[in-house]
Amino acid sequence: MADELLDNPFYQVDTYREWVKTEHVPIVEAYAVDCLSQPLEPSQRLGGLGAYIHLVGRGDAVTCYLAEIPPGGSLKREKHLHDKLVYVLSGRGATTVEAPDGRKHSFEWGPGSLFGIPINAWHQHHNGSGSEPTRFAAISDLPLVLNLFHNVDFIFGNEYPFQERVGEDRYFRGQGEFRAVKPGRHQWETNFVPDLTSFELPEWKERGAGGTSRNVQFTLAGSTMHAHISEFGVGTYKKAHRHDAGAHIFCVTGHGYSLLWLEGQNPVGTVRVDWKPGTLYAPPDGPTFHQHFNSASVPSRYLAMSFGGARYFVSNARKKNYENMDKSVKEGGNQIEYEDEDSRILDLYERECALNGVQARMRQIVASRLVAATG
Ligand SMILES: [Fe+2]
Repeated sequence: MADELLDNPFYQVDTYREWVKTEHVPIVEAYAVDCLSQPLEPSQRLGGLGAYIHLVGRGDAVTCYLAEIPPGGSLKREKHLHDKLVYVLSGRGATTVEAPDGRKHSFEWGPGSLFGIPINAWHQHHNGSGSEPTRFAAISDLPLVLNLFHNVDFIFGNEYPFQERVGEDRYFRGQGEFRAVKPGRHQWETNFVPDLTSFELPEWKERGAGGTSRNVQFTLAGSTMHAHISEFGVGTYKKAHRHDAGAHIFCVTGHGYSLLWLEGQNPVGTVRVDWKPGTLYAPPDGPTFHQHFNSASVPSRYLAMSFGGARYFVSNARKKNYENMDKSVKEGGNQIEYEDEDSRILDLYERECALNGVQARMRQIVASRLVAATG
């Protein structure tokens, strides 16, 4: 019965899914993807090579387009009525943005750059090297807007000028404005972050990792997309937490693994994703707990992008997510405190650190939390 309904043209029409088939590039369906080695194919619409990455945990609003520009090449100029954030994986290049007031803004990027395209502004990406290809991932809310309006021309051929989304000139030069809110919710407002690997981050003690946890939210090109970067230190792991689907997570520096499980399941025996720079994955849904472990001899950083950022309200569910993200599940929140976690998590972590020649720092931290909780 369910399969018959899927082919019915009057039932649950998915305009995004129909449209993406007309792109004639690979559609990769996976739990996790190595974006640096993922095979891509030529894109007639955009130029260069590409593939759509449909992660199991991508949710309803967000998709990932993986693009490669050949040496000396450019993608085609385009504009669209959806927000788009770009994370550069390899190579060097430049992007030109044409504001509705006629001014052109160009900026040069490299591995670890992150930028937002102002909604509906003409833009074009160029490879800056004559010998090396460049690769980037574009995370957008195209599924949401295509399914909302179910009209492709409205999204790709709209003339409305969103001048206010262009922001200040200096936002294209890598400058920005720090908006202090609260640890875990502090924001950096800009259009362009030249290098996520060295961007200075404020502390976020509530997320654990022995006080090494650091984090900032990005507001890019005034969009409603979520983007944040987190760092945690050598020999540490973060607290387990859960939230809605859609968070596309890229390892930026270091390496490690994440565990994913449902309440009642064995946290170390259910799903494990090993990550290194270039790995992309997404926790699948609201009930799934996930926890990130650094097994590298350097601090690990990851970038998460999704729909519904810290700045602009999009739904009560997203708002609640921000409120509950560092509150214990015992208090109605979405985080498991160290003193409440399954002891197999720490045992596995120490084995992984030993394999990597790293000194694990967590046993003392977890023990002190246990003493505080029971004493
Ligand atoms: Fe998460």
